[in-house]
Amino acid sequence: MALKIVILAAGNGKRMHSNLPKVLHPIAGKPMICHVLDAIKPLNPAAVCVVCGHQAHQVKEILHEETLIWVEQSRQLGTGHAVLQALPQIEHDDNVLILYGDVPLIQSETLQRMLQALSNHHGVVLSAKLDQPFGYGRLVLDKQGFLSHIVEEKDASSVQKQIQEVNTGVFAAKGSSLQRWLPELTDNNAQKEYYLTDIVALAYKAKQPMTAISVTDILEVTGVNNRKQQAQLERAFQLQQANALLSQGVTLLDPHRFDIRGSLQVGQDVVIDANVLIEGEVRLGNDVQIGANVVLKDCSLGDRVRVLPMTVIEHAVVGEESQIGPFARLRPGARLHGENRVGNFVELKNTVLSEQAKVNHLTYLGDCQVGRQVNVGAGTITCNYDGANKHSTIIEEQALIGSGSQLVAPVTIGAGATVAAGSTITDDVAASELVLTRNRQTHIQGWERPKKDE
Ligand code: UD1
Ligand code: CA
Repeated sequence: MALKIVILAAGNGKRMHSNLPKVLHPIAGKPMICHVLDAIKPLNPAAVCVVCGHQAHQVKEILHEETLIWVEQSRQLGTGHAVLQALPQIEHDDNVLILYGDVPLIQSETLQRMLQALSNHHGVVLSAKLDQPFGYGRLVLDKQGFLSHIVEEKDASSVQKQIQEVNTGVFAAKGSSLQRWLPELTDNNAQKEYYLTDIVALAYKAKQPMTAISVTDILEVTGVNNRKQQAQLERAFQLQQANALLSQGVTLLDPHRFDIRGSLQVGQDVVIDANVLIEGEVRLGNDVQIGANVVLKDCSLGDRVRVLPMTVIEHAVVGEESQIGPFARLRPGARLHGENRVGNFVELKNTVLSEQAKVNHLTYLGDCQVGRQVNVGAGTITCNYDGANKHSTIIEEQALIGSGSQLVAPVTIGAGATVAAGSTITDDVAASELVLTRNRQTHIQGWERPKKDE
């Protein structure tokens, strides 16, 4: 018995008003269909079929690293017709799960529950109880409580429209049931579509009734048809992630103004101010404090690090007890060993700061190795690019770089050396030297300014 998964993704998403296929629109920075693929991974399916429409090439391009079977449905004649296109991939004794590329937040545990129920039924509908069931297919039970059929909103009688138990669309069936009943579907209904849901009635008539299990968290089965629903699902998902962090012991000054597009690992007593954005994989140690309006992407921050407002950190490692910002930018390859200070309008790229090195104001260091306890003065610039190649700068421990200096790479400043303010350094500086390259200041006594012609 193999598990096969069919993901319906052929709808053209007209209401998104977009050139991008609907299933590629993101929730939390990730295409919706990728959320579905992540949810099914723990189930180890033997095959995953994606039913696509005319925009298939764009979807294939994004998912080229996944092992998927692509099935084309050139005309969207209904959910039953869509699954029928995947039928050649399905064997008699398979267990089959039918999911939707535009219903991104389905959880593995729910799918596991459906598969358990499938072990003694021919089909399992995932249902939900809604106060406002309008628009959904309703579950109709017989007198004994068996699921007899699903009636779509447009085909329902006024009595049936009162039913609050609805079909979420997510469905599990035995391969044998699909093989037997999918070809029997007709489009004899209000929408002239081949309804997948009609196989519930076919099974019931054959005295092999299907069953339903219900989902409690509606977010799991919420679909996206337009930008408004996308935005609503995004906010709801972000709030869910924020609440999970709160219950882990993180302080979020405003859980409504906090976004994770990726994953966040945290230590104890982390405090995060408003409007913080986490992207990719971010790790925060114990007692880390993140100020307002900070962006953290693919980075790791050690214990007791403080990031002050308006700072952007990307592909960087920040050692413990460091303080970054406000208005600092750590670019890829910035590695701070610990107890560092990086202040306002400082940009670091591919640069290592050893313990206790400080770069406090208005500075660019690129391709630079900075030793222990170095102090880099305001307005220092490494000239690391000669127009063709990048070169490195080495600043050895306890050197002091005066304000407004340019270090023209490749160049080394020796340990304990002092670079006078306003110098342009083109040659290596030995340990403990003072180096200055600026002109001597000239004084002219009694000098008179030119006067305007009468
Ligand atoms: C369907 C269910 C309904 C359920 C609802 C939940 C049927 C007949 N009805 O209705 O009971 O309450 O979902 O949202 O199944 N698709 C294709 N090819 C097609 C048709 C649809 O790939 O030919 C895909 C769409 O891209 C979409 C999904 O299937 O992702 C649902 O299709 P849609 O026609 O919107 O079904 P609903 O009317 O919402
Ligand atoms: Ca729909």
